[in-house]
Amino acid sequence: MQILLLGTGTVTSRLSLTLAEHGHTLAGQMAAFSPQHLDLFDFQGVIVVAPEAAVTTESLLRAAERGKFLFILAGADDGLAAWAHSTGVHAFAFPPTELETDRLLSEIRRAESGTLAADAQFRRTVLGGDMAARLQSGMATRKIVVTSPKGGTGKTTTAVNLAVLFALSGLTTYLIDADANAGSLQYHLRLQHAKTTLIGLLRQELARNTSVMGDIAAGARYLEAFTPLPHLPTLKVLPGFITDDLGDQALQNEERITGVLHGLLEAGVATGGVVILDVGINPAHVVHRAALRLAEGIAIVIKPEIPDLAETRRWLARMLASLSGVVGREASYEFVGSRVKLCYNQVIGQNFKAAHTLLQHSLKEDHLHLPLSPNGLLPFVAPHLTSEAVNSDRAEDILVWRYKREKPEELAAYVDALVGFASHFVPVVREGAARAGFLPTSANGTRKGWLRRFKKG
Ligand SMILES: Nc1ncnc2c1ncn2[C@@H]1O[C@H](COP(=O)(O)OP(=O)(O)O)[C@@H](O)[C@H]1O
Ligand SMILES: [Mg+2]
Repeated sequence: MQILLLGTGTVTSRLSLTLAEHGHTLAGQMAAFSPQHLDLFDFQGVIVVAPEAAVTTESLLRAAERGKFLFILAGADDGLAAWAHSTGVHAFAFPPTELETDRLLSEIRRAESGTLAADAQFRRTVLGGDMAARLQSGMATRKIVVTSPKGGTGKTTTAVNLAVLFALSGLTTYLIDADANAGSLQYHLRLQHAKTTLIGLLRQELARNTSVMGDIAAGARYLEAFTPLPHLPTLKVLPGFITDDLGDQALQNEERITGVLHGLLEAGVATGGVVILDVGINPAHVVHRAALRLAEGIAIVIKPEIPDLAETRRWLARMLASLSGVVGREASYEFVGSRVKLCYNQVIGQNFKAAHTLLQHSLKEDHLHLPLSPNGLLPFVAPHLTSEAVNSDRAEDILVWRYKREKPEELAAYVDALVGFASHFVPVVREGAARAGFLPTSANGTRKGWLRRFKKG
């Protein structure tokens, strides 16, 4: 493992020799540590020899947020030892006995082999152990499709920001690009080298040529397909899907496609995580159709504009008709009504109100009696921010992530509304976001509450 060793003294020197003997490399050794070092050195683990180093828990938190493994050597009455115990970070006695050094080496091995998970450490250190447990077990809609009946409404922007919000709030989040028409997640997340893609996975599973396999082995293989995001250990991505080849073998077998999507969703949820699929506009495409049927929650992202409303009306009618053929009329209404969460995006002022009334009216005209509410109201964001969110050279400029880093006032309303929408799926996310330190509040300290204001009015 590449290690940053913090300390200068005899114990640190001895430890650095032992680490080298066991095949570990030192990215650096220094007495003091600050968050800037996270960008200067390339390393996976940090070892703090507390009595011989100057570090704060705050800077160690920043390292854990970036997915670095922490190992602390400290005397029993050292403040860092107490912090390590309260957050579940690995702590070792100082000065270390031979036995203690062996224990340290084996924990480093566990981290290397993937048994000691960076996302679990992130949750415990950043949010606290009690919150970590609640995030993983609380009641929630954990299989989420983000779609829209029309292109360019902000589906990918919403899917990406929801995923980053969940991940920053401590939930292990799996984001899948299942847009067969315009997949672009890898650009949004600046993924240079993805392990594989959804189409790659479909081809691989097709080649396997057996539909019956051990659930556990399959689950592990599905999780293996995700690429972890550098700098955010709780977010894992399965990008890119586009194929212009309509005869592509991987797209011919609907049962297999459903099987793979089902496997991905189950594997992610089994880890206590949330799975988000960015699904393209055509609900009849074989991959989109499979995703929509497997979802527990379907976010429909539209702009409060006539063309989007008209397409939403058509989309709902088609969805109900196609489901009615399979499960009957009543069950299809139940399915759509309980899953669909409408999200108006690029909202300016109160313009969504008239739009929503219009939509309800047109549904009634079609005799589609769906009780749709505006569950999400995401405001229009200044173009320089949305532009940098996709065009700068770092994923940390994604809107919510940027808000967490810099708290620009211009983004407060967007992030607040996003937290509101996200909590329709995972209620505890609000608390996670607060613990992670970025739930926005207005100047006078009260929450802005877009949705609440609308409901009252
Ligand atoms: N809330 C918003 N405010 C301003 N611009 C937005 C907002 N959401 C999305 N956009 C912009 O709209 C365009 C389309 O967004 P995108 O997420 O790619 O849509 P889709 O995936 O539905 O095609 C992008 O230029 C994006 O920056
Ligand atoms: Mg898109």
